[in-house]
Amino acid sequence: MGCFAFFKTNPKSRDRKYKPGGGAVSTETTSSSNYETSRSNESTGGKHTSKSTASTSSQRSISAMFEEKAGVLRVFELAELRSATNDFSRMLKIGEGGFGSVYKGFIRSADGKGDRITVAVKALNQRSLQGHKQWLAEVHFLGVVEHPNLVKLIGYCSDDGERGIQRLLVYEYLPNKSLEYHLFNRAATPLPWNVRLQIALAAAEGLAYLHEGLEIQVIYRDFKTSNVLLDNEFKPKLSDFGLAREGPAGDKTHVSTVVAGTHGYAAPDYIETGHLTTKSDVWSFGIVLYELLTGRRSLDRNLPGNEQKLLDWVKQFPVESRKFSMIMDPRLKHQYSLKAAREVAKLADRCLVKQAKGRPAMSEVVGVLKQAVEITEAPPPQPSAPTNSERGKQKPTGS
Ligand SMILES: Nc1ncnc2c1ncn2[C@@H]1O[C@H](COP(=O)(O)OP(=O)(O)OP(=O)(O)O)[C@@H](O)[C@H]1O
Ligand SMILES: [Mg+2]
Repeated sequence: MGCFAFFKTNPKSRDRKYKPGGGAVSTETTSSSNYETSRSNESTGGKHTSKSTASTSSQRSISAMFEEKAGVLRVFELAELRSATNDFSRMLKIGEGGFGSVYKGFIRSADGKGDRITVAVKALNQRSLQGHKQWLAEVHFLGVVEHPNLVKLIGYCSDDGERGIQRLLVYEYLPNKSLEYHLFNRAATPLPWNVRLQIALAAAEGLAYLHEGLEIQVIYRDFKTSNVLLDNEFKPKLSDFGLAREGPAGDKTHVSTVVAGTHGYAAPDYIETGHLTTKSDVWSFGIVLYELLTGRRSLDRNLPGNEQKLLDWVKQFPVESRKFSMIMDPRLKHQYSLKAAREVAKLADRCLVKQAKGRPAMSEVVGVLKQAVEITEAPPPQPSAPTNSERGKQKPTGS
């Protein structure tokens, strides 16, 4: 795939991540110059660029907003995090992504009183040129946003010492793995229909907040099941803000970036042009909706050729056709509302229209998912009591 000039193989090798390359590495946390994004008008054409341009409006940048919130995040010493994770013990490793390894750890509370807090510590790959950039983006965005469906960043560590450049992030610990695990891992108990819907709704609320609920627009850019973490009650939180970008400011329609994201989830218009908008996230959301319906991955090389690409496969079972229910995850064992499933598939189809402008805003997606939840929760229609004449027609039961 020639247009993905910058990609990286995920250690789990199931999906490939393409990441922006190059760019200066700086430890400064106040400049927006570390983001390879520029803001453009649709009319200016879509040349990819790796240079930043300052916002032309009076809107504050994410780094300025971060500065204002300075002090919300804890700054950790490397030694503290080493001790929290038992020197990054393999026993405490809970995951590995394209940018580094994640460890479970235990830290003291900020005031030093009370019980120790369980955290997730992400150590960014030292060799990755992108490590610093991702780290900085996470610190900036997660330092500013605040929403029940976004993972909470507790603090960070930046250490340029004998062991080289170390960049770490300390998050609240989510004890129930990721949506990816629960949807696709054979060892996991299948997720019931209502839980899938609740997860979709809450994740949509998280994205709607990023797109529409802040002073600036935030484009998440990496929406996928492995980035949706779950708490004990299966409430989802979006994690991984390394690729997040500020949306276009003022009268601009998009930001131009070097294409980055994950194969199978990135919007085709974005891949082709490098024009990033909130509608790129809406596309990825549509993909995840189909993953929730079918229990299949957006790309699965283990399936027969014509079934490997989820979108191509589901097209054979249109939402209004009688064949539609054949796409539904067999692990649901028919325990779902077909009406709600159809609404979700229709919504997914709207999220997945080629023209980015035709895709719904995330707030609209939230509204449709709320209706799907209502349909699912509505008591099934009661069979009406037979009338006397009908009773007479009833076949006798038993002998
Ligand atoms: N805050 C957290 N609490 C608990 N587990 C976490 C937390 N953050 C990450 N993890 C675990 O670490 C794993 C790796 O996360 P990471 O975001 O680095 O990679 P990924 O999402 O699997 O892949 P990619 O790099 O492509 O995004 C997650 O799937 C999850 O299981
Ligand atoms: Mg991730």
